[in-house]
Amino acid sequence: MHKSHSAMAAILAATLFGAGAVSAYAQEPTLRSLAEERGRYVGAILNSQWFGGGLPGDYEKIHKTQFNVVVAENEMKFDATEPQEGRFNYGNGDKMVKYAKANGMRVRGHALAWHSQVPNWVNNYKNDKKKLLAVLKNHIEKVVGHWKGQVDEWDVVNEAVSNNEPMWRSYSVWYQGIGPEFIDSAFVWAHAVDPDAELCYNDYNLEQGISPKAKAGFVLEQVKRWVANGIPITCVGSQTHVEDTTTDKHFIGSPDSLRAFARELAKLGVKLNITELDIGFKSGINVSSADLARQGRNYREYMDVFLEEPNMGTFLIWGVSDKWSWLGGLNRQKGLIYDDNLRPKPAFDSLMASLKEHPVESVVSPYKQSFIPDTTKQDTTANDSTAKDTTVKDTTTKDTTDAIMPSVARLPASLHVAGSVLHLTGMASARVDLFDMQGRPVFSAKCENGTVELKGLASGRYVVRVEQNGMVDVKNVILK
Ligand code: G3I
Repeated sequence: MHKSHSAMAAILAATLFGAGAVSAYAQEPTLRSLAEERGRYVGAILNSQWFGGGLPGDYEKIHKTQFNVVVAENEMKFDATEPQEGRFNYGNGDKMVKYAKANGMRVRGHALAWHSQVPNWVNNYKNDKKKLLAVLKNHIEKVVGHWKGQVDEWDVVNEAVSNNEPMWRSYSVWYQGIGPEFIDSAFVWAHAVDPDAELCYNDYNLEQGISPKAKAGFVLEQVKRWVANGIPITCVGSQTHVEDTTTDKHFIGSPDSLRAFARELAKLGVKLNITELDIGFKSGINVSSADLARQGRNYREYMDVFLEEPNMGTFLIWGVSDKWSWLGGLNRQKGLIYDDNLRPKPAFDSLMASLKEHPVESVVSPYKQSFIPDTTKQDTTANDSTAKDTTVKDTTTKDTTDAIMPSVARLPASLHVAGSVLHLTGMASARVDLFDMQGRPVFSAKCENGTVELKGLASGRYVVRVEQNGMVDVKNVILK
């Protein structure tokens, strides 16, 4: 599964994580060198004004030495890349990609479909679904196409879930104008342009539990459905903007919750990345050295989880120094790992300690080896969710300008694989299509007598789509 991503991961691993690979900048261990030895990425955002001498002091040297993955704070967002309809501006994003490549760093792209930082002209089409679909599709095609092969991983959809009760965020222009199918569509469109890029769903408050009422629980249900339906998602990004409320007990969110989420996603073959971490204090309070020590412990707990879960690949902090941080806008302060004078804080030391205390051989790199648990003993976890699902997506839609639309009815029959034969109980004749986990068609046949011989397919996990008289069923199967 994830064949093209595995190939890409192997190349990345060879480039970045080759035997004994240590950053050229590292004289002594750094976050970067320790992460690279473990096949992982540790990073911090870039802002186009910050490098090339844009910030005083050792900022750039620190950034290159300590980090091996970057994300643009604002420069790849919709309003930055397509400020006027059809007129694209890649200048600042290009600068960052150039910087990242010159310094051997992985690049995350942020973000394609988001309700915020959308230019005003998009709202002109809020009542025109067909036009809005065309706008989003064109944007994704142009932007992903521009950085094809350079951006390794995209936040395809950002913050689409509402905060209070888990449901879709209703005030997004994309949701209002298109409906929830903008999400499935965005993944399919991005994948069509750059099949080797990893594609993430990214959101905040995902460290607050995985019960069905929590945001992560809702996201998990969606990921199950996407995977079952062949929507090409490979990762979830947990932004992890958390607040230290001055006592450990009231710490909002928990690394353990994130661990539980990672484990559920691993069952689906999906990575969990920490994409925007900061652990801030309320603005206005006096932050003591004890507070900073506790902040360090909290940072460390997230790093421990990150290193111990085999499907976690990237640990990204939303800033470097407390001096240049967006956190003030959230009424928080001092959430990063370097202080105002670019001196490492206890949080930095804690991250280093965690990396050193997780021996190289104990850390699985999802870029070097499979993290996917052996599910061959049961059918799949995804089947449970598809049984409840009423919005099965048709990934075979030919006109991709149209949304990936829900199918209306489900087949009452069941299917299973024995050897290389697909058995369809209760269906004399049906059309059978198989897709790989990225949604690419790999096999098609008409079933005449309740069985189909699956010829010429490598072993692995596939999505089977069965259609009879306009009704559709979709399930995962594993071919041995
Ligand atoms: O681009 C305009 C510029 O033309 C204008 O002169 C200037 C005057 O204030 O504003 C500029 O826009 C600002 C933009 O950052 C670029 O600097 C916006 O006002 C400001 O609101 C915007 O803030 C960004 C925020 O996202 C917007 O939602 C922060 O820098 C950025 O750190 C923050 O990042 C988000 C992630 O994308 C998603 N997750 C949450 C995270 C924190 O909110």
